Amino acid sequence: ALATTGPATAAAAASGAGAQPAGNGGPFPPDFLWGCATASYQIEGAVKEDGRGETNWDVFAHTPGRVANGDTGDVACDSYHRYQEDTQLLKAMGVKAYRMSLAWSRIVPEGRGQENPKGLDHYDRVIDDLLANGITPYVTLFHWDLPQALPGGWQNRDTAYAFADYAALVARRLSDRVSHFMTVNELRCFTDLGHMQGIHAPGLKLPPAQVNQVRHHGVLAHGLGVQAIRAHARRGTQVGLADNTSFFVPVIETEAHIAAARKATREVNAMFLTAIMEGRYIDSYLEAEGANAPKVQDGDMKVISSPVDFVALNVYTPSYVRADDAAPGYVVLPHQPSSPRMASPWLYVGPEVAYWGVRCVHDLWQPKALYISENGCSADDQMVDGRVDDPDRVMYLRNYLGQFQRATREGLPLKGYFLWSLMDNYEWADGYGKRFGVHYVDFATLKRTPKLSAQWYGELIRRNALV
Ligand code: NOJ
Repeated sequence: ALATTGPATAAAAASGAGAQPAGNGGPFPPDFLWGCATASYQIEGAVKEDGRGETNWDVFAHTPGRVANGDTGDVACDSYHRYQEDTQLLKAMGVKAYRMSLAWSRIVPEGRGQENPKGLDHYDRVIDDLLANGITPYVTLFHWDLPQALPGGWQNRDTAYAFADYAALVARRLSDRVSHFMTVNELRCFTDLGHMQGIHAPGLKLPPAQVNQVRHHGVLAHGLGVQAIRAHARRGTQVGLADNTSFFVPVIETEAHIAAARKATREVNAMFLTAIMEGRYIDSYLEAEGANAPKVQDGDMKVISSPVDFVALNVYTPSYVRADDAAPGYVVLPHQPSSPRMASPWLYVGPEVAYWGVRCVHDLWQPKALYISENGCSADDQMVDGRVDDPDRVMYLRNYLGQFQRATREGLPLKGYFLWSLMDNYEWADGYGKRFGVHYVDFATLKRTPKLSAQWYGELIRRNALV
């Protein structure tokens, strides 16, 4: 339903997609893919059901003091049982694609070896339900819930090979219906937050050399995963990753500042996306790490840089940079006490990062296609008389989408956008306290209620233009 009345709106309704009242306006490309995103541990619950193996997040969440309020993913949104209802939420907004992740430990409970047929049976049903409703699944293979039985987790190089075996299995079974796979989600988070800062599973604070080795195993897993999917999936299957690249906004749009943002993007992401796109660890990284640099075996860099069909970006917080005469040629400007934030302390608002993130990745490496695998925000949503009005989230999304639109307008190969998230869910160490959904979830009853932002997103999709 249209949110406003008046001649302009009525005219837009009459003439269909593309027409809209004056205002934010501006179309997206005709085939632009509108989606929503979630991840297995954050929504599924049913952690002991149908042979699912234990994961690092089960252990972490059940360790007192690790997660706000002692929240665990034991029940989460119960999407393991309510996936059909979730499909209908997507459909009601007119969403065309759903980015979901598979729980590795449902499919291979111990991480490697014996497979559990009930795991893939479940995802078969979820995927068939999406397809029956005209929604294209985009499948992430690893969104942080690591089978606990894998010895040493990401500290062990073998985990990367176990991941490849699991990826091959999934590709064989699902690629008749799934044509887009993302290997891993947010390398920097599951490596650094888990093994350096210790605030995500497995909660370690390792010394730099070991952290670098974990990072290396992460990118190696990605590369092996790409190769496994290529070898085992149906021809034409597209594979990439969902990366939370650190993005830099040139604080003034001059050549010098833009060059500074580009250089910062390349150097700060040296151990992740830069290695994947360039097939080597660049000198500035190796020099900075010295003896702590990762131990690389022959052939690793070739595997890590296996060609991808697309790069998908999770875009949230900006960093602003300016050019500088002294090495390295850029200065990353600290956020100010007055810099605006959403409900998560780390979630600074800077819509220009949406354009500059895409632009810098494109300028540096020219991936064939780019997607936004996540963008969205936490907000202090309140249910009042059965309604959740979240104008702050609408403001945030509108501003970021305006900048993604700039990227498409300038011809950058941005193909689609997945809003994080379809519904409120388990926000890792923040538990259920931080809500990112466009649907409100009452975690006592598991009832889902569309927020005003869901209505807004539906309107944007209907018009394929910024509203
Ligand atoms: C990135 C992660 O991929 C996702 O799991 C998380 O919930 C959102 N960002 C919000 O923090």
